[in-house]
Amino acid sequence: MRAAASPAGVRVRVWDLPTRLAHWAIVTLFALCWWSAESGHMRWHLLSGYALLGVVWFRIAWGFCGSETSRFRNFVRGPRATAHYVRKLLRGERDGAAAPLGHNPLGALSILAMLTLLVLQTSFGMFAVDIDGYASGPLSRWVSFHTGRVFAHLHAFNFNLLLVLVALHLSAITYYRVVRKERLVPAMIHGRKDSRSMLPAPYFAPWWQAALLAAGIFACVALVVHLR
Ligand code: HEM
Repeated sequence: MRAAASPAGVRVRVWDLPTRLAHWAIVTLFALCWWSAESGHMRWHLLSGYALLGVVWFRIAWGFCGSETSRFRNFVRGPRATAHYVRKLLRGERDGAAAPLGHNPLGALSILAMLTLLVLQTSFGMFAVDIDGYASGPLSRWVSFHTGRVFAHLHAFNFNLLLVLVALHLSAITYYRVVRKERLVPAMIHGRKDSRSMLPAPYFAPWWQAALLAAGIFACVALVVHLR
């Protein structure tokens, strides 16, 4: 449903509640995982890691069966479309009336990269063996001590890659704010943004679909954690 007009275009609903909740849950849990690992609160580290695992898989599943702007097929573009977008960006051109409402092709790449590294990060943690066996991942008993240590090193290395991606993510958002005067963060909070797009209003999936999906995914995570 389109609403109040503004100089930058028309205010439209872009992000559904599940996508926004998933995003801010990822941010919070990522910070909690980081803090707990650094400060040695390993029980918190494991709990926040399991929750992060669930939220990331929820977001991935929502990318296949969720609202239109959250679906991967609606925002992931091929190399040609991405290169075309980058050229337009460098020339300082604005999005036209046919521009999609959700993520741009460049943002899509960073989202795929972040979700992939988050899946790897949480998966490595599940198999990682702590040197003194104090806080090993719940699936570490299925691998040898040596393999578990390899997973622990991959878990540490991958975290640094994630930090690089998060830094790029925040730099891109700042660039859009400062250079292009586009405020992306409020849209990720209240779900609406000003757009010149003339495309029809996107489809929004019902909330119960997200609730069922989240319940199923968190039940699977709980099952896997208790496999030990
Ligand atoms: C651990 C740190 C972070 C991670 C892993 C992360 C990850 C992501 C992911 C996966 C998306 C895609 C959202 C979706 O379609 O579901 C996204 C989008 C977004 N994030 Fe973050 N994020 C982080 C921190 C932040 C912070 C601190 C902010 C705000 C200052 C922020 C603002 C945004 C915005 C505005 C978008 C939408 C961009 C667009 O309009 O295309 N993110 N982020």
